[in-house]
Amino acid sequence: MSLNMETLSTFAKTQGFVYQGSEIYGGLANTWDYGPLGVELKNALKAAWWQRFVQEQRNVVGLDSAILMNPKTWEASGHIGGFSDPLIDCKACKSRHRADHLIERFDASIQADGMSEAQMSELIQTHRIPCPKCGKFDYTPIRQFDLMFKTQLGVLDDKAQTIYLRPETAQGIFVNFKNIQRTSRMKVPFGVAQIGKSFRNEITPGNFIFRTREFEQLELEFFCEPGSEMQWFDYFKQASKQFLIDLGLREEHLSLADHPVEKLSHYSNATTDIEYQFAWGFDELWGIASRTDYDLKQHQAFSQEDMSYQDPQTNEKYLPYVIEPSLGLDRLFLAVLHEAYHEEALSEVDTRTVLKLHPFIAPYQVAVFPLVKKKHRDEAFTLLDQLAKRFRVTYDEAGNIGRRYRRQDAIGTPFVVTIDDQTLEQQTVTLRDRDSMDQITLPITELMTYLDQKTRF
Ligand code: GAP
Repeated sequence: MSLNMETLSTFAKTQGFVYQGSEIYGGLANTWDYGPLGVELKNALKAAWWQRFVQEQRNVVGLDSAILMNPKTWEASGHIGGFSDPLIDCKACKSRHRADHLIERFDASIQADGMSEAQMSELIQTHRIPCPKCGKFDYTPIRQFDLMFKTQLGVLDDKAQTIYLRPETAQGIFVNFKNIQRTSRMKVPFGVAQIGKSFRNEITPGNFIFRTREFEQLELEFFCEPGSEMQWFDYFKQASKQFLIDLGLREEHLSLADHPVEKLSHYSNATTDIEYQFAWGFDELWGIASRTDYDLKQHQAFSQEDMSYQDPQTNEKYLPYVIEPSLGLDRLFLAVLHEAYHEEALSEVDTRTVLKLHPFIAPYQVAVFPLVKKKHRDEAFTLLDQLAKRFRVTYDEAGNIGRRYRRQDAIGTPFVVTIDDQTLEQQTVTLRDRDSMDQITLPITELMTYLDQKTRF
């Protein structure tokens, strides 16, 4: 089924997944608020990632570092002065473009990312690449646009220090490498995982929640012995892809795009993007980079702190190499919603919208319905309260049962439990499955175990 962003964003809004940010004031461009269902889905995605990449790993621990960091961090990491995008304006219609995107959109066979300003200018001139918005050829020169958001520390303007909102969570992990290694007594190879907000003053945000200025990252920095990094790089490529497949993304909608050597960042000796087939085509979902010892080396030089690791067996001291799988939560959210959204024809006259989400991440995992409001409500509330201790639950008593099923289908609730006369007489419930729409009868005593097994990740 071909799905466009308009349909998906309208659906996301009407169901309470994602609203436009500050909507009552006319919005703030490209900011989004996650509504009651959105926050549940987001939290569940974080829980799935944490479970897979921290909890189930013997050699990965977590961190929650501060968003605001000493500005020296960003000098060391190369972000100050080096984290910018090439910007070009159309003088005719005043639209703004990333120069590399302008070229790549004009000719997909050209890889402009990583080219110098002069190379890009020459290409734009030679091909007289027209403005994609108005078709004219009348541009400003290319300028570098700083992606870091600045703010101030301190109350007095003249004494205030410029600090930055972090553009990635990764540096919080690198600066804590020694703290974590010492306190958790981890031996290389080991990893540190972190989930948190990052901020980039993107020139061309867009495609709904795909590229925004405020977003959440799920990052893992895996420290290993130099020379072993390619083995771990391959491991994380596979493990990351498998995680997406286990969440329900179909393999044919995923592709691994290796960065050609000439396009690698200065700190990387191998990088692959896991791309997902979004409505507009394959695009980056998860970046997996082999970052060598670049970050630890830089922080060692700038802080004068010894960042090396001493192997307890050989006593050899070295700076570990790093493999970094870095995933955008908002992009994962979009991919999952994309994959799950179905409009199904049930007969010639009947259709249903159904979100086929993995039961672990569905905003509500179980809905409880009383068949007849007045007669079955007390029993339904009793069961709802019990289930709520273990699952994300919801309750609906409004309208006929068919309508209520459709409402749950549309928000992805995998199981509906209905309380009826049989419940009162024989302590059984009817359990309806979202995807097959089959119904089974279960003794209440077996319900918890059944749902527990079906909602695991
Ligand atoms: N620490 C490495 C790093 O930040 P990145 O490729 O710039 O690498 C990693 O970002 C991931 O973060 C991307 O693959 C994407 O999923 C997400 N991401 C980056 N910029 C984003 C933006 N402006 N909006 C939403 N997600 C973004």
